[in-house]
Formats: sequence, structure tokens, C-alpha cells
Amino acid sequence: MEKEQPGGLHFVGKKDELIEAKRSFRTLEGRDILIIYHQTVFYAMDSYCYHAGGALENGDIEEIADKLCIICPKHKYKISLADGEGIYKGTDPREKPPVPRWYSKGVKQRIHTVTETNGDVYVKLSEDTCWIESDFYQGEKGKVERAKA
Ligand code: FES
Repeated sequence: MEKEQPGGLHFVGKKDELIEAKRSFRTLEGRDILIIYHQTVFYAMDSYCYHAGGALENGDIEEIADKLCIICPKHKYKISLADGEGIYKGTDPREKPPVPRWYSKGVKQRIHTVTETNGDVYVKLSEDTCWIESDFYQGEKGKVERAKA
């Protein structure tokens, strides 16, 4: 189904079909991507969780600390849909008594850009050149690591 357009845009499907599917899996340039439709917005991210390669496709979505997050079904790590941040609950031991709060670990999951034109939906892969932890579970090497995890 992959059809690359100028500007690195990959046609990933018709808007109506992707809305109905809610979660769609695509392989673009050898990268496995999850496209999510949630509350009228499309998101695209690496399909395998940065923690140990869990399949995010089946994760629930919840709002945590004002961010929509997908919850990895494997060990329940929380990843924000919009920017791929790892979100965790922790306490500051300097606080007396310590109160659990949500914190960000920074961007852990690679996020891709989704656009829509006349009912056609496109994904542009992230061009961020820095290492993002979810990169580890992509490609041939990632396949081996996912099998081990
Ligand atoms: Fe996703 Fe561990 S693999 S939480």
C-alpha cells in the first residue's frame, strides 16, 4: 500500500477507513508505524514500545497530567501521543510527606507527522537525527530484540 509522494509523504489510507480502524499498522521505509485516530485527531508513532518492544497497537489511551497517553499493554508504561514523552509517577523524597506526581522522562518514542488532504492521509517520517529509544526496536535488529524481550 505504500506510495511515497514528493516531500517524503507516504500515503497511508483514506481518512474514513483510518477513522473506522482507529489503529492502523503500516511499514514505511522499513519502519513499523502505528497510526492512531483518537478524539478527532490522527497521531503516528513507532509501533513498538521504547521499553522492551511491546506492541502499542493494543494499548489503551488515557489522559494523564493533561496529556493523552497510550498505555503499553506489556508493562503499562505511559507514552504521550503528541510528543512521545515517557510519563511516570514518582515522588520527590525532599518533600515531606512525599506526594506522588506525574513526571516526564523526555521523548522516548519516535513520533511522525500525519497530514490529510482531500480525504487522503499521509505520514511523514520523523527526520530527527538524534537517537530516540524506540529506534532500538525497529528494523531487522529490532525484530531479534523484540523476540528476546
Ligand atoms: Fe512497553 Fe514494557 S514493553 S512497557
